[in-house]
Amino acid sequence: MKLQGPKTKSLFQKAKAVIPYGVNSNFRYWGEDNTLIIDRGEGTYVWDLDGNRYIDYRLAFGPIILGHAYPAVVERVQEAIQGGTLFAWTTPYEVDLCERITQMCNVEKVRLTNSGTEACMYALRIARAHTGREKFIKFEGQYHGMVDYFVYSTASSNLGDLGSKRSPINSPTTSGVPKAINQYVINLPFNDIERLEETVRAKWGDIAAIFVEPLLGNAASIMPQPGFLEIIRELCDEYGIMLVFDEVKTGFRIANGGAQEFFNVQADLVTYAKSLGNGFPIAAIAGKNEVMMTIEPGAMAHSGTYSGNVVGTAAAIATLETLEKEPVIKTINKVGTKLMTGIDEILTEAGIPHVLTGVPTMFGLILGEDQKPHDFREYFKGDGELYEAIAMELIKRGVQPDADGREPWFLCYSLSDEDVSETLNVFNDSVKAVKDTR
Ligand SMILES: Cc1ncc(COP(=O)(O)O)c(C=O)c1O
Repeated sequence: MKLQGPKTKSLFQKAKAVIPYGVNSNFRYWGEDNTLIIDRGEGTYVWDLDGNRYIDYRLAFGPIILGHAYPAVVERVQEAIQGGTLFAWTTPYEVDLCERITQMCNVEKVRLTNSGTEACMYALRIARAHTGREKFIKFEGQYHGMVDYFVYSTASSNLGDLGSKRSPINSPTTSGVPKAINQYVINLPFNDIERLEETVRAKWGDIAAIFVEPLLGNAASIMPQPGFLEIIRELCDEYGIMLVFDEVKTGFRIANGGAQEFFNVQADLVTYAKSLGNGFPIAAIAGKNEVMMTIEPGAMAHSGTYSGNVVGTAAAIATLETLEKEPVIKTINKVGTKLMTGIDEILTEAGIPHVLTGVPTMFGLILGEDQKPHDFREYFKGDGELYEAIAMELIKRGVQPDADGREPWFLCYSLSDEDVSETLNVFNDSVKAVKDTR
């Protein structure tokens, strides 16, 4: 299949001359014929350089919670930046935004950063400085950004590289990370209470933090089993370990107060990014007063030239204001439930085993398997090739989920019932087209 039209193809060649693989993030490289170049976005749609319109279910890997170029956000940014964007002093925008985050998310203190990677990097440093311990636990299939410590057993790992479930192996996702880093990272299967308890009881004296994406936002939105997050909370309390919720994907998306509100579990530290700014670069580390106050001038460093810049903070203020004033998540849940139900019906009709996971604002779809996976390993029971084949047919017809089934379908407030109907028609055609070729 070739998604690139002639204009895209031509600019892609130019891009490759100056940018490795023509992209500024490896996840955007879909090969020589299928790497798209986007001209513009509006609401729930994006248009590529050749003028093809797509109903966008990637939404930039999640940030676009309201819609592309959402007027309330764009206007607020345009107005704010007339007065300058960066001063190396605190601005009123930062105070306004951090107050909003504390109120919406039940956290006591906030520091702003620019990306999810940066937020997670600082959360780990705070946890280490607070506990005086150096190791941390994360779960297989989770992604916490590109910092060296986190790039083991992420959603990019292969099943065969993870070792036995009884004694998981840290599978490196990239070259370029010093071997010594490996000793600080403990990867465990998600939802495996026994393994977690055993590990914490044996190694707690070394463990600063348990990092968790409360639902697997990088592995088909696999949900925590009832009680799993609560048990992590209890273990952290018992052994003085910092519970870090990585809410880069779930924050301001699965509930106004994110996963802490949705699952009713409080973390010690929380990271936010994506939906916080509806597509503008802004992120945050937040948490309990006592833990966040580990940050201390001259003692525990957090800084950043662009932290709290006017562009990001103005965008985030407008985004959070919209989330508070309008039924954003309720509306997406309603429209999203229709979409999930429709997809379920089409696949049942077509005789394709499938399972839908997650929540309507970010749901996963696994084909060739009808049991909900409990962890990243079980995700591989599904038929990833069939998923990709159907996804590519969808994209060809103007509906754009990610071609990799690990990436959830993201929905925004601008998605209408009509868009869902169009999506379902295209879904039906795409399933038929793939079935005809098999
Ligand atoms: C859960 C999670 N944490 C952290 C990150 C890293 O965020 P960023 O890409 O903004 O650095 C991501 C990115 O997808 C993510 O999904």
